Amino acid sequence: MGGAGLESPPRCPLTSRGRRGARRRRHGVRPQRSPGHCGRRPTMAFVTRQFVRSVSSSSAASAAAKKIIVKHVTVIGGGLMGAGIAQVAAATGHTVVLVDQTEDILAKSRQGIEDSLRKVAKKKFAENPKAGDEFVEKTLSSISTSTDAAAVVHSTDLVVEAIVENLAVKNELFKRLDKFAAEHTIFASNTSSLQITSIANATTRQDRFAGLHFFNPVPLMKLVEVIKTPMTSQKTFESLVDFSKALGKHPVSCKDTPGFIVNRLLVPYLMEAVRLHERGTWWQELSAAFFSLGDASKEDIDTAMKLGAGYPMGPFELLDYVGLDTTKFIMDGWHELDVKDPMFQPSPALNKLVAEKKLGRKTGEGFYKYK
Ligand SMILES: NC(=O)c1ccc[n+]([C@@H]2O[C@H](COP(=O)([O-])OP(=O)(O)OC[C@H]3O[C@@H](n4cnc5c(N)ncnc54)[C@H](O)[C@@H]3O)[C@@H](O)[C@H]2O)c1
Repeated sequence: MGGAGLESPPRCPLTSRGRRGARRRRHGVRPQRSPGHCGRRPTMAFVTRQFVRSVSSSSAASAAAKKIIVKHVTVIGGGLMGAGIAQVAAATGHTVVLVDQTEDILAKSRQGIEDSLRKVAKKKFAENPKAGDEFVEKTLSSISTSTDAAAVVHSTDLVVEAIVENLAVKNELFKRLDKFAAEHTIFASNTSSLQITSIANATTRQDRFAGLHFFNPVPLMKLVEVIKTPMTSQKTFESLVDFSKALGKHPVSCKDTPGFIVNRLLVPYLMEAVRLHERGTWWQELSAAFFSLGDASKEDIDTAMKLGAGYPMGPFELLDYVGLDTTKFIMDGWHELDVKDPMFQPSPALNKLVAEKKLGRKTGEGFYKYK
């Protein structure tokens, strides 16, 4: 490696074209030079760009230096996701306040966290149960609870919201918290399907607002999507990336685009499986009620994706696991955003099951029966 580098002509610091230029010259291609690029003498443009580069790298360094190191986290919503986020944050040395609407809900969340921590401890400290007990006690002692979000955000570094998936309710919450939270506090939403920008707009701190999308179950799933709106500052973004890493997660980033990365690919795939199953000619559609015709059966589609694509679950199994109402809710939201996009078209079969309250595993029936 080093030898090849020594034989190469010096690289242009702006384009790294040195080696490619040499290759072109060997093949009789005259390298195109733009002023200031790869010339023997440094031109003014070159010097200016170098200067800008060093200034911007030093300002990037100073922005990074000002990043918020999140120590104190307020998690709003003690349901499935919020409890998981609180657990992981506390287990990784953060001080956490978990907020929900009633003491009863918070007691259940706390119990759920304790049960989950005991499972973690059993595995992690299999050889040393005493250390496992200490880990559980220490983690639980880092979590306090409250039913009054406004009263606890005055000195928190980060608010992670994981409440009901409803824009008006999220907006109202953030609008109120904006008045009580410290100036430096970052706000983040764990929404799966709403636009982060439309939540951030309820506040006056759009630069300190981003998406922080965890996956279920939070203690097990490694991924976190960090979503940057056009208003999110680099400092906020980097602080959230660091926080995700501190949780032991793997952050990926994307713009404020519907479904972010995972759901944008996953939900259309699930919907396409439903369409494949319900698709047919008008005659087939008419007779589908009697003969259950489609391009393929749900059992065969599930088997095909497991054995042919190596997926751990087939799409219908996954739909039932996630909850058919959740998928329908996401699709309806996207369809509203762009009614013409064929990927965002609603499915009659899915809508019918949801209307019949057959929501998947949680109700005992969805595409499959679980009773
Ligand atoms: N469930 C998932 O697989 C999943 C995955 C990623 C993201 N999300 C997102 O996370 C958020 C929460 O989802 P969940 O599955 O944990 O829901 P959930 O219903 O299990 O929990 C929501 C909790 O928020 C509480 N709550 C509602 N309004 C509140 C308010 N104003 N103040 C305080 N608490 C309030 C509820 O009492 C409930 O305990 C949603 O935005 C959802 O889209 C869910």
